[in-house]
This record gives sequence, C-alpha cells and structure tokens, in this order.
Amino acid sequence: MASGFTPERIAGLVEGAASVAGQVELAGILRSTVEFAKEITGARFAALGVVGEHGGLVDFITVGMDDEMVRSIGTPPKGVGMLGLITTTGKTIRTSDIATHPDSTTYPAGHPAMGSFLGVPIRVGEQIFGNLYLTDKPNGFTEEDEILIEFLAVTAGSAVSTLRLQDRLRRAALLEDRERIARDLHDSIIQDLFAVGLNLQAAAAQVITDPEGMRKKIDASIDHLDESIAALRRYIFDLRPPVWARPNLREALADLVGQLSAPYQATVSLEVSCSADLVPRHIADELVATVKEALSNALRHSRGDSIEVRVGCGATQAVMTVADNGVGFDPSGPGKGLGLSNMAKRVASVGGSFRVDTTSGKGTVVRATFPLAAD
Ligand SMILES: Nc1ncnc2c1ncn2[C@@H]1O[C@H](COP(=O)(O)OP(=O)(O)OP(=O)(O)O)[C@@H](O)[C@H]1O
Ligand SMILES: [Mg+2]
Repeated sequence: MASGFTPERIAGLVEGAASVAGQVELAGILRSTVEFAKEITGARFAALGVVGEHGGLVDFITVGMDDEMVRSIGTPPKGVGMLGLITTTGKTIRTSDIATHPDSTTYPAGHPAMGSFLGVPIRVGEQIFGNLYLTDKPNGFTEEDEILIEFLAVTAGSAVSTLRLQDRLRRAALLEDRERIARDLHDSIIQDLFAVGLNLQAAAAQVITDPEGMRKKIDASIDHLDESIAALRRYIFDLRPPVWARPNLREALADLVGQLSAPYQATVSLEVSCSADLVPRHIADELVATVKEALSNALRHSRGDSIEVRVGCGATQAVMTVADNGVGFDPSGPGKGLGLSNMAKRVASVGGSFRVDTTSGKGTVVRATFPLAAD
C-alpha cells in the first residue's frame, strides 16, 4: 500500500479501525489489529505481543510468517531488548535498521533477518497492554506509518477496555440475578411451604380429637400448596416475584397474614392505610415480600402472642412496621437464616430504609420505608 495520507489510505484506516472495534472477542481484536497493521503499512512481518504481569510477553501473534518459519524460530520472544523497551518507556520506536539500534539483541538461529522496524505500545487505560511490532517494509517505515499505527493501537486498546468493561458488567448482572432469584425463592416460596408444613403438623395432632377440623386444615393446606405451585410457575416463566399476580396491596397483605398466621396461636392485626393506586407495582412487591419475612419471623421466633402489621403511605414514602411482643433477640448474633439480610437488601434495592429494634423480653419492631416518588 502507498505511503503518505492518501484518501484511499485514510478510508482503509477507518475500515480497519471499525473492524477492530467491532470484534466481540479478545482474540478477534488482536488478530484483526495485527493483520490490519501489516496491510496498511506494507510491512513483511507484523506481530502483537501481549505484556504479562511482570513486563514480559505472555502471548505473541504473528502475521506474515508461515508455520515453517515460526517452528524454526522456536520459542516466541520474551519481550526483552528493543521489544521490552517499548513496554518500559511506553514510547514508539521507529528505525530503518534493527541491527544498529542500541537496544537490539541478537536473533535466535532460524529467525529471518529483519531490517526496518516500527514498534508501538497498546495502552488499556494507564497500562501497557501489549505492543504492535512491524518489520521489513521496503524503504523503511515513514512518519505517516507511525501515526497510522499509533491510531490503530489506540483503537485496539479501547476495544480491549470496552470488552473488559462489558465482561465485568455481564458478570455483575449474573451475580445480581442469582442473588435476586435466591432471595425471591426464599422469601416467598420457602416461607409458604414452611407455613403449610406447620399447618399439616397441627392437623395431624387432631386426627382423633377433631377429624372435621383436621379435614379443614388439610383442605386449606392443599389450597395453599396449589397457590404456591402457581406462584412458582409464574416465577419460572417470568422470573418475577410471585406477588405480582395480586393487583391490590390490601388484599395481598390480608391473604398473606391469613395464610401465614393460620398455624399459630398469636393474634395478628393488620392495618393498611394506603390507597390502592398510590404504591407502584414493583414497590408493592418488595413491600409484601418484606412483610412476609418479618411476619413469619415474628410468628416463628418471637413467642409473643400479639403481632401488629401496619402499612401506611405518606406523600413520598410507604412505611411498614411489624411489631411483636415476644422475647426479642440479638440482631448482631450469627443468624443461620437468610430472612433478615434478604429484607435489608430487598429494601435497599428500591432505595428504602430498613431497621430492626428489638428488646430482650419486650419484643421486636421491624420497620422499613419504601420511596413512592415517581421515577
Ligand atoms: N421477631 C423476632 N423475634 C425473635 N427472634 C427473631 C425475630 N426475628 C428474627 N429472630 C432471630 O433472628 C434469627 C435470624 O432471622 P432470619 O429471618 O435471618 O433467619 P430465620 O428466620 O432463622 O431463617 P429464614 O428466614 O431463612 O427462614 C432467627 O433465627 C431468630 O433467632
Ligand atoms: Mg426468617
């Protein structure tokens, strides 16, 4: 290809840069960079060395050498001498004759003799990610070549850093999804099954004394199980929390309280003072799930005989409290369950606040706020 900044050459550069930037895998970025570097300069050989942690080259991709040649050279360069100088100084090297460069080292046997040389660092952020090496251009590399290859190196570096960023985001999203799924299953399905199990246990105790009552309890348990199955099914298909199926917050909470408290002696009172359309659906979901866990904790652990569930709405936030008159507990103690941390994360995920006030012998109040401001 011609030297100088001809329109064809600039067009070629744009095309090459676009092809480098469009790669979705690291190997593709490196290969297209080195191939294009060779093409646009007319170098006989081109290579891209990836710099490892300790400054040496950990990967070396060549273009222009056939397999025979690569084999006869043996091990790829380690990145010392002139190749290393680019890494340590972060500066381009352009010379008409490698052999006369002061930092040049001797070639291994079987290495083709190389004349002119252009080496450019590839930066990813602050770090030198690798170097582009071009050798053996008839009549040597020009200043224009240097500018073009430096531009290409910048393109390659930003393609690598974009790829890394995307990777990180993807991984974070996966992890977040995983945690969310675990939380939803724990808070809704498992607590339901727990309640059904208890109800059946209570029913079994009535087998002699109250067979009619036992039948009722078993029927209620079957209904509850059917609902759990339906909720699980919805969840599997939509990956949405099961409570989404209930449009009315007050009804959803009343059902929840009824189902969860059935197997227990404690009296549960419910007070909801939010108009139905005030709480957006996604907030209502988190709110119901939080009530569910707080109430099931109060029922299962507090040993109190009275539990109050209150949900109120102001202009900017909904406030939920679940208060019991039970034994209290040490919230800093090592908890074996997931409930408390799930509630905290759930509330934080929608920008609300969460706190637990508990007094030994007096009981526990779980309080969570949920923002209502339109987003
Ligand atoms: N209202 C409460 N009264 C008394 N103790 C409580 C109360 N809430 C929580 N605890 C104590 O805190 C511990 C941790 O609660 P958490 O909800 O995190 O887990 P869990 O209920 O044991 O299990 P999971 O919620 O995973 O089914 C409970 O095991 C219990 O000892
Ligand atoms: Mg719990």
